[in-house]
Amino acid sequence: MRNNVLVLNNPIKTVPSQGHHKTAEDTPDPEQMTRMVGHSGRIDRYVGQHDASMKHGGDGGADVHMSNSDSTFDIYTEHFGLHSRPFSLVPDPDFIFWSPAHRRAYTMLEYGLLTRAPITLITGEVGSGKTTLLHHLLKSLDRFTKVGLVSNAHGTRGELLRWVLMALDQPAGPNATYVDLFDAFQKYLIAEYARGNRVVVIFDEAQNLSRESLEELRMFTNINSNKDELLQLVLVGQPELRDIIRKPDLRQFAQRVASSFHLGPMDVDTVQAYIGHRLIKAGARKNLFTRRACELVHEQTGGVPRLVNQLSDLAMVYAFTNNQKTVTDRTVQQVLDDGTFFGAGTFEQTDDFD
Ligand SMILES: Nc1ncnc2c1ncn2[C@@H]1O[C@H](COP(=O)(O)OP(=O)(O)O)[C@@H](O)[C@H]1O
Ligand SMILES: [Mg+2]
Repeated sequence: MRNNVLVLNNPIKTVPSQGHHKTAEDTPDPEQMTRMVGHSGRIDRYVGQHDASMKHGGDGGADVHMSNSDSTFDIYTEHFGLHSRPFSLVPDPDFIFWSPAHRRAYTMLEYGLLTRAPITLITGEVGSGKTTLLHHLLKSLDRFTKVGLVSNAHGTRGELLRWVLMALDQPAGPNATYVDLFDAFQKYLIAEYARGNRVVVIFDEAQNLSRESLEELRMFTNINSNKDELLQLVLVGQPELRDIIRKPDLRQFAQRVASSFHLGPMDVDTVQAYIGHRLIKAGARKNLFTRRACELVHEQTGGVPRLVNQLSDLAMVYAFTNNQKTVTDRTVQQVLDDGTFFGAGTFEQTDDFD
């Protein structure tokens, strides 16, 4: 963690840790994997690695190498000749793919910060890449930017200010009154301003903020020193966030949004380039998915990166099972026919931000 960045997750609703490469999100659903076991004996080695306690079905059960800690990666390393798992489900900035939309969203984030926009708004479907972009932004900020990241803040008046202060690494004692906290916050903003620093607070999953909280945040952006505003906010959330902000009672809030972008789904060519990019980043020499495989992945995922990752990862496991070095549309279809891809049909197409 950078010393000027503090990441806060509201314990009222904990979100999965995103700082390392193995999370619960990475582990296939046990029910899903149980169904996959029936597909082939070879797949059991993969299953066994993910959940050693699981009952193994199929006739390959005797072949399970549960003690071999590298066996999960045999699929990617030995079979496909890669050095890492290409379709992991964590927002890893090293795997970032700059689709035109991701590039634009990122540019809007940077533009918002540079122009001292009081509020920058980024929306997009679940899994569209918002948190990935935030992680990249946090890595690229200079030392003159003091950043607090609040992931998934809920709560009542007073709690929000506590979250903001804690995200900025500032004390917010349990006995401090709202007035005390506000005073401390104002003093902190003024002190940072005097040092030539900018203060940015980023809210991820901001669609969960109540209207009262949004209104309170707007008031924070009014804190100023002569003409200069002292606090910048970045709000990142699901599409309903922009609907909330467009409501008449949040008109004043909307007027402070000086930079915004809606991250839409990827089109088929972008999905193909995305799959190829992730494979090459993982050590492949070329895209191991045929064009028709990419087309089917696009059709079934609606171009949402997280779903693309899930389906592509499953397709690679199936290709391994079939002893294929390339993923074809038939491989992807096998995944779909087996019902192992739970993301199918869960995406929603959204219109572009107007
Ligand atoms: N531009 C991108 N480049 C590489 N991977 C991406 C990109 N966008 C999304 N992903 C991948 O998709 C998954 C979901 O992304 P995430 O940033 O968590 O979405 P969101 O925050 O919008 O729900 C992650 O596994 C991430 O690695
Ligand atoms: Mg996210």
